[in-house]
Amino acid sequence: MPLPDRPPVAPLRRAVVTGAAGFIGSCLVEHLLRLGATVIAVDRRDCGPGPAAINNLAGSAGAPSLIKVCADLRSCAVEPLLLDADVIYHLAAIPGVRDSWGPAFSDYVSCNLFVAQRLMQSAVRLGIRRVVLASSSSVYGLTDGKPSPENSPPHPASPYGVTKLAAEQLCLAHAARRGTLTDVIALRYFTVYGPGQRDDMFIHRVLAAALGGPPVTLYGAGERRRDFTYITDAVAATITASTAPIPSGILNVGGGASTSLKDVLLIAGRLAGAPIPVINAHPYDGDVPATLADPARIRSLGWSPRVDIATGMARQLDWLTSVQSQKKVCASA
Ligand code: NAD
Ligand code: UGA
Repeated sequence: MPLPDRPPVAPLRRAVVTGAAGFIGSCLVEHLLRLGATVIAVDRRDCGPGPAAINNLAGSAGAPSLIKVCADLRSCAVEPLLLDADVIYHLAAIPGVRDSWGPAFSDYVSCNLFVAQRLMQSAVRLGIRRVVLASSSSVYGLTDGKPSPENSPPHPASPYGVTKLAAEQLCLAHAARRGTLTDVIALRYFTVYGPGQRDDMFIHRVLAAALGGPPVTLYGAGERRRDFTYITDAVAATITASTAPIPSGILNVGGGASTSLKDVLLIAGRLAGAPIPVINAHPYDGDVPATLADPARIRSLGWSPRVDIATGMARQLDWLTSVQSQKKVCASA
């Protein structure tokens, strides 16, 4: 169904990106700079090159229109960061399903929920036109295997998914308050991969094993399926969401094609010229059998995925190869 028309927002003059030293955030910053925006890049991690964020933001280093702020959004003064911004891309969070069952849960709550509240209070007070929030396919939880449209009832299966659902609902509740000038678009990203991917994620681990790293621990029999989304497609969707003349709401960011973990291993084996070594392990709670986006809404805004899984994995392998050879050069210097 076509979305209702709204006056366009003009987000690309001055943008705030939280979680800017992260996987998706650093790629978004790079693209926004290329589009000519001034970017306030906020992260509690050091935004310079380092073991935790190899190459993240390195491509943007030295850009005159990049302002890096190293700050913890749970406690820093938020309003000064947001002054005069047209759009806030709020990506900062603790991601990852597995660890959310453990003692880190309080960090998930404070970083994923409490920070969203602090940010929205300031954004609304300042009348910032739009907040684009990183939500997650994890909010859908167990599904019947059919594509999930945005209005499917959410049933998150992990504490992580619960914090993401709570954060999106919280931000949307702020946007719905009478007199609020701030729109919120919550993006439900489906398992994003590509150069820069977090090293706890499956494709990263598979490709690291392909390059001689430790064998991959495979949780379950490899039948699990994900709607893997390539990083530049995810970033293009994020920018589309910030410029689209639509009211507050939710958008899936996934192409609507799923790949099994077994197939990921086969593709990696083909790229590496040898099978990927695997150690089998039991699946863990909250690890849903399948995710699959219904992308109709975001497609109606002109977005479509450009990079298929085999091409995207080949690019990620090239990137990982170059990162590993840089590391070797540094170690021998
Ligand atoms: P990431 O861990 O690489 O990046 C998140 C960044 O947020 C980190 O650099 C971290 O330091 C920062 N951060 C966390 N808490 C902070 C705080 N209190 N103050 C300041 N900075 C803080 O993760 P990512 O994979 O790039 O994910 C980005 C966003 O997208 C997250 O909100 C995540 O939940 C969501 N998401 C990611 C995926 C995916 O497949 N990568 C899928 C669905 C949703
Ligand atoms: C990913 C991100 O980690 C979450 O932050 C995000 O919210 C979520 O996508 C999402 O789309 O919403 P996940 O799909 O679990 O979560 O992505 P991976 O960590 O790459 O795992 C994909 C599959 O591979 C899972 O079934 C997982 O159990 C499996 N896996 C992962 C392994 O078998 N072994 C590993 O070493 C890592």
